[in-house]
Amino acid sequence: MSLALHSTDTRELFDRYVVPNYGRFPLRLSRGQGSRVWDEDGNEYLDFGAGIAVCSIGHCHPRVIDVMTKQLGTLVHTSNLYYTRPQGLLAKRLVELVGEPGKVFFCNSGAEANEALYKLARKFGNDCEPPPPTHTTGEEIAPEQNRFGIITFDGSFHGRTLAGIAATGQEKVKRGFEPMVEGFSQVPFNDAPALLAAIRPDTAAVLLEPIQGEIGIRPATQQFLKTVRSICDDYGLLLLFDEIQCGLGRTGDWCGWRSIAPDVIPDAVSWAKGIAGGFPLGAIWVRDKSVSLKSGGDISLANLLGPGSHGTTFGGTPLVCSGALEVLNVIESEGLLENARTLGDYARSAIAQIDSPLISEIRGVGLMFGIELAPDFAEKANTGDRAPSLWLVDRLHEAHLLAVPSGTHAIRWLPPLNVTRAEIDEAVGILRRVLPSAG
Ligand SMILES: Cc1ncc(COP(=O)(O)O)c(C=O)c1O
Repeated sequence: MSLALHSTDTRELFDRYVVPNYGRFPLRLSRGQGSRVWDEDGNEYLDFGAGIAVCSIGHCHPRVIDVMTKQLGTLVHTSNLYYTRPQGLLAKRLVELVGEPGKVFFCNSGAEANEALYKLARKFGNDCEPPPPTHTTGEEIAPEQNRFGIITFDGSFHGRTLAGIAATGQEKVKRGFEPMVEGFSQVPFNDAPALLAAIRPDTAAVLLEPIQGEIGIRPATQQFLKTVRSICDDYGLLLLFDEIQCGLGRTGDWCGWRSIAPDVIPDAVSWAKGIAGGFPLGAIWVRDKSVSLKSGGDISLANLLGPGSHGTTFGGTPLVCSGALEVLNVIESEGLLENARTLGDYARSAIAQIDSPLISEIRGVGLMFGIELAPDFAEKANTGDRAPSLWLVDRLHEAHLLAVPSGTHAIRWLPPLNVTRAEIDEAVGILRRVLPSAG
């Protein structure tokens, strides 16, 4: 049995034994180094997907290998029944990166980090005083009624848990899993009047991605972020940022929203993806701000999730936290925020110079690129049954460049933050070659 399994092709193993919930590309990857990966046949690819914005300092960075190998031989896991130094140090580092007093909770993934935000919002709505009457929606909220609503935005993506798909502003992720978890509603992105109109007496929070990642990279406007902050202040709502894809360096700033609206301070932020350079880790930062309890007295929002209110066995192990600390150290000591800013701008203008009628827009901030394909891409490029984004990613793979589709008409480049100018030139050259000449 084991011999037979050993000789089975990797794809066949998946076909027989792995739940088919992903539409995978036909690549069997086996090794990575820096911005490159290799398949089982030894073919090399330039990796501009980086595991969907996860391998933030490329594959197998020697400093991370060193630190994690040492930690692997020291202490891997203890559960959260005990104190472990790497978790405490990483929490301190993350609070310092935000630059505002607060506290951090660790979990294992983006969806799980957002779950912590939803629970924070519900706890806030349950336990804390509604806003003062001058800032209500005009409708009364009965004293025994709790606020639990979370407003999110069309086009958003917040993960695949039941609450995550209810929060997500895309019908395709909800389909087949109805009924949705109660309390989530969506309004158009970058539309403050629509947000205002959606606030109800039972609304507790607003959750948004400062740069929407899953519909072709769409940044919020500066004005929108500022207005949402003041709406949340006026109505006593929590402002929650999902920085799972855009946070911790990808935009050229530790906090993605600061690349857009530097002065806005959210009440809580979720992270995952690039935080530990490829190891599963999620986290939320919660602001140290005073909120009034219905039961009397004040409490810091950062202490609202008290003992027993939330948890996870694996969140923040010594192993993953030591790796994440070193990833953040590498980003800082190798000047990768600056690299993300300069090479991001460089790449956007290089892609613009391709000047193809098949590309309708290039969006993004730092090393987060959305390349929007022309509405008539399918006809011009003759993509057949394949969605234009998938068709183009197939062609890029054939030319040895990994990229990520984003909806049907956009592709994403999310290269490691230590990508080089030469690698950007190489990727742009491949894109230029692969785009069929049309128009
Ligand atoms: C903005 C955003 N939020 C949440 C998630 C969910 O993260 P995970 O897949 O780690 O659960 C993702 C994943 O793509 C994301 O991009």
